[in-house]
Amino acid sequence: MKITVVGAGAVGATCADNIARKELASELVLIDIKEGIAEGKALDLQQTASLLEFDTRITGTTNDYAKTAGSDVVVITSGVPRKPGMTREELIGVNAGIVKSVTENILKHSPNAIIIVIANPMDTMTYLAYKNAGIPKNRIIGMGGMLDCARFKSYLSSELKCSLNDLHAVVIGGHGDTTMIPLIRMATLNSKPVPELISEEKQKQIVADTMVGGATLTKFLGTSAWYAPGAAGALLVEAIVRDQKKVFPCCVYLDGEYGQKDICIGVPVVIGKNGWEKIIDYNLTSDEQTLFNNSADAVRSMNSVLETLV
Ligand code: 2OP
Repeated sequence: MKITVVGAGAVGATCADNIARKELASELVLIDIKEGIAEGKALDLQQTASLLEFDTRITGTTNDYAKTAGSDVVVITSGVPRKPGMTREELIGVNAGIVKSVTENILKHSPNAIIIVIANPMDTMTYLAYKNAGIPKNRIIGMGGMLDCARFKSYLSSELKCSLNDLHAVVIGGHGDTTMIPLIRMATLNSKPVPELISEEKQKQIVADTMVGGATLTKFLGTSAWYAPGAAGALLVEAIVRDQKKVFPCCVYLDGEYGQKDICIGVPVVIGKNGWEKIIDYNLTSDEQTLFNNSADAVRSMNSVLETLV
């Protein structure tokens, strides 16, 4: 198994670190446009192998896509991160050009790769990658909902004073401060519905905190978060390479499912060796479906900006 991570910034390096620790690949390539950064981080990561007891061979390269040839899975983390006060959507101009050229370069050398997109605005970057790649829709997956779920569970567990691992919670819709939909109705703690355990006021607060989860971190850090985004990316890679058939909310191309067409947006999907293999229908209530439709409208209007850019 060969895996490439494009972008050796904080998210890319953290994702690579998790991929190596989980021993998901025999070969892991880190590639970045900035001279020496991928080589340096790959070497540093490689030198953790005997300490962390993994056998993955990690190499880094400055923009030489030939070294990524034959990759089975590619994670695209390249692009500019958010600054405090910025929305993910404001990054579209710069990141669209980057994602377009990265996708082309990747597919030139790894025509069968499954591509995971982490660059922001993630739903629009996934749509751009899909439209540009000309590969089956199942092989393009945007990672956002898994991260939003992790944040949702984190806020829920603080309130419920429970283990995060006893919680089930899902976030669908766009990966944006106003477009994501934490489905609190469906959240459970050991099979007990969360709405039976906390007040409506608290539920609203947790949903609101989850929606601005990324912005909260950006305010603290001065840039986007990386530990949870990198770990979520690696978990998605793991489900693919181990053919786990796990269900995660991911950004995928819809062709009528959830009432939407010609858009990439977050819905629950089964992840396995073919990429996303099936969309799960959650039977949304009419209020939830309205939120989903509004989220899709916002993502679609962001997608329309692409026509003016690339
Ligand atoms: C986040 O939510 C960067 O979109 C990423 O942290």
